Amino acid sequence: LGRTVFSYEVTDSTNRRAREEADRGAPHGSVFFAEEQTGGRGRLGRAWSAPRGEGVWMSVLLRPKLAPADIAQITLLTGLAVCDAIREVTGLPVQIKWPNDIVLDGKKLVGILTEMAAEEDRICALVVGIGVNVNNPAFPEELKDKATSLLLATGKPVSRKELAARILLRLEKEYETFLRQGANAAFRKRYAERCATIGSLVKVVMGNEEFAGTAIGISETGALLVQTGQGIRAVNSGEVSVRGM
Ligand code: BTN
Repeated sequence: LGRTVFSYEVTDSTNRRAREEADRGAPHGSVFFAEEQTGGRGRLGRAWSAPRGEGVWMSVLLRPKLAPADIAQITLLTGLAVCDAIREVTGLPVQIKWPNDIVLDGKKLVGILTEMAAEEDRICALVVGIGVNVNNPAFPEELKDKATSLLLATGKPVSRKELAARILLRLEKEYETFLRQGANAAFRKRYAERCATIGSLVKVVMGNEEFAGTAIGISETGALLVQTGQGIRAVNSGEVSVRGM
């Protein structure tokens, strides 16, 4: 990953740039960095705040030969790679909130947005957008209680370059292991060890339906397994939001 790099001082969204360049034939592993995003995008149609110079705002273009059903696993393995990279660089005990937010003390440090850019036969272009709050000195009023940064958590600035490099190295390794072995039991175990959601009470909103239960693990397809009064339900990342209770 990262043999081809696109860098922007200011752009609306690196995910949008990556999708455009994917259509123009940018190679597997291309990485898109921005110092600032003016229209950063989050999951579920939300906006993502990406002020100048404060975070790692990047997207990675992957061209896996996978069935669409395997895409959920890429979401999970990205979360694991980013979580471990942050632990490696800062020593902070950060955790994953399923599927792939990275949190510290219940506040969000990282958001990841995976989008499908194109599909031909079984070769699809996937854009994995990663936003890490690194040196944000403060957050806007509406995010203050929900978000944090590595600077706020450690009390000192963290090198965005080093962190981005660590993330890309770990992502490459996780991705290659996944292509060789799939999301096997060893992977699910490593993910579960880092995942704060597993073992917690959760409330799931799936379209118009709402239910509560205890998250007990990850299925072979990457779904979150939730034990409810009516049995075990499998929850897929694209369709739901899970809130701690
Ligand atoms: C979320 O938690 O809702 C996902 C946020 C993803 C933000 C990153 S920043 C780099 C990339 N470009 C975007 O527009 N979004 C992602």
